[in-house]
Amino acid sequence: MLKWIEIDRKALLHNLKLIRSLVKDKTKIIFVVKANAYGHGIKPVVEVAEKSGIVDWYGVNSLEEAIELRKLGVKRDIISLGYIERDEIEEGIKNKIRFTVYNPDYILALEAKAKKLKKTAYFHLKLETGTGRQGINKNEWKKYKKILDKLKYAKFEAVSSHFANIEDTIDHSYADYQLRRFKRFYAMIKKDGFSPLRHFSCSASTLLFPETHFDFVRVGISAYGYWPSNETHLSFLLKYKNELELKKVLSFYTKIAQLKDLKKGSYISYGLTYKTTQKTRIAVLPVGYYDGIDRKLSNRGYFLLKGERVPIRGRVCMNITIVDVSHMRNLNSEDKVTLIGKDGEEILTADNWAQNINTINYEVLARLSEKIPRILK
Ligand SMILES: Cc1ncc(COP(=O)(O)O)c(C=O)c1O
Repeated sequence: MLKWIEIDRKALLHNLKLIRSLVKDKTKIIFVVKANAYGHGIKPVVEVAEKSGIVDWYGVNSLEEAIELRKLGVKRDIISLGYIERDEIEEGIKNKIRFTVYNPDYILALEAKAKKLKKTAYFHLKLETGTGRQGINKNEWKKYKKILDKLKYAKFEAVSSHFANIEDTIDHSYADYQLRRFKRFYAMIKKDGFSPLRHFSCSASTLLFPETHFDFVRVGISAYGYWPSNETHLSFLLKYKNELELKKVLSFYTKIAQLKDLKKGSYISYGLTYKTTQKTRIAVLPVGYYDGIDRKLSNRGYFLLKGERVPIRGRVCMNITIVDVSHMRNLNSEDKVTLIGKDGEEILTADNWAQNINTINYEVLARLSEKIPRILK
């Protein structure tokens, strides 16, 4: 195999257990496996999660992802956090998917389809609390109430919301404000005779603020062994004066396709962006931006080879990346290269890539190509 991703079963189990230990028994865990389980591969991740007995529900983005879970034999409840087209509602109901809803006429469409199928369509109403994304405004509630009062087949199961910047800062005043808005909105709904379940919490709030857990937490990144951000990690250390050991689940490898010596003054890769300043030995790697190696890593960052850092030289190409191995001896083509993972004393993570290209670990992981084989270890 020229490139492959390994999924560490024990690490995933460890993280899920850790998360379970942080939330009350009555709080259900929605494991967010959208975006191909944050690039980890839905199949191996779900295999471990199902056996763990820890995960209560799964969170996906689309009907397609939900159906993939059903095909893998998942019987547990699944909620779509994204948008399911009206044309797909019937398929969603048949597959017992919970819908996240934020349009009044969508609820009517759910009711009509459920009636036709003589089934229940469960939905969660998303409340706008300051993220400025999906969700209904508080002043729209009365309009929704009128619709909800008449439902027979569509069931208003829960309300949800999402934090806007809980990961971006150690000042959580905006998250507090959102929580207050959520509680006020819920109180209004309750006063009108509804008692839906509640969920608001992503990884950051699950790790930091038990008061946000309610009936479900929706955790993604932390289950994969990553902190949502340095700010979240720091907030945790400041608050609890204790480390929480999340274990990285994913490693990504390739092999050297060619080793070659270049004279001083030679160019490396497209655009001639790197010119050697001395006699240089390069290793040509058969991975590129098609695989998820961001092109912005060109001339930035490094990979690992035999426990040493090998810097990326020149532009990352569609299917090829070049690293400088001048400082290394006894190399052979097809030697293993660690793109993400541990090699000897060195550890290279999606955080490291993210820092180099000014993005977040979520994006680095989610963009790893689905075509790369995932191996459960
Ligand atoms: C609505 C929603 N809930 C929960 C999550 C999980 O967040 P995290 O990966 O930070 O746990 C996401 C992730 O994007 C999300 O969009």
